[in-house]
Amino acid sequence: MKEYQKNKHNEPLRVLIFSASLRTGSLNTRLAKLAADIIERNGHKPDFATMQEFDCPSYNQDIDVNNMYPPGAEELRKRILATDAFIISSPEYNGSMPGHFKNVIDWVSRFRPQPFNERHALLMSASPAMIGGNRGLWSLRVPLKHLGTNVYPNMFSLAIAHKAFTDEGNIADETLAKRFETNLIAFLKLVEAAKHYPWMKKTWVEFLGEKPDPATDLVE
Ligand code: FNR
Repeated sequence: MKEYQKNKHNEPLRVLIFSASLRTGSLNTRLAKLAADIIERNGHKPDFATMQEFDCPSYNQDIDVNNMYPPGAEELRKRILATDAFIISSPEYNGSMPGHFKNVIDWVSRFRPQPFNERHALLMSASPAMIGGNRGLWSLRVPLKHLGTNVYPNMFSLAIAHKAFTDEGNIADETLAKRFETNLIAFLKLVEAAKHYPWMKKTWVEFLGEKPDPATDLVE
């Protein structure tokens, strides 16, 4: 494939990338690693993280006092703010996103300013099933969109993922491998445009029928 030529005047993008699986030998971690390699090959800087770094105890509003947050939530917030975009490869559990990851999103959503707001995200999944974990990504879009993240429209889901990788960690099927890379590069181009054209309009938030009220406003 012809490699994407980065504008030499632009700085490399910093992209946080992690798998939402805690499992050793995770298929999603393999997919995330492949994406990190492609990002690097295209002249950008991947920040590869693990879900273990972000895992948190169950959210409880009683312990959410005096700006005390679990270390995992602090870490994800720090890494999101230090990068231009984030990419998640998430397993699908029972047709939805994993509970431990929703828990982390809930914790991180409590920081002010709210870290997910106006960030760019690409969602991917891998599963042994034929649908590749894609239903889980639709459920993951919901809290991220709610929190103001610009979630890239195209998502990538790798079906029959336990048989999909070569020994070197690439996607064995050439057409699928090409689609994976093309989608990733299209996402990077969008993030690059947003970074270098900051005056571009990025969000439009309306609260139809609601009076502005700090208790209900989604975005500060
Ligand atoms: C699963 N798995 C699964 N797969 C799927 O495609 N759709 C689903 O709804 C579910 N549900 C589900 C629930 C629970 C509790 C578990 C533990 C597993 C299978 C899952 O996709 C498989 O274990 C993947 O390998 C998990 O991703 P990682 O850990 O390999 O990245």
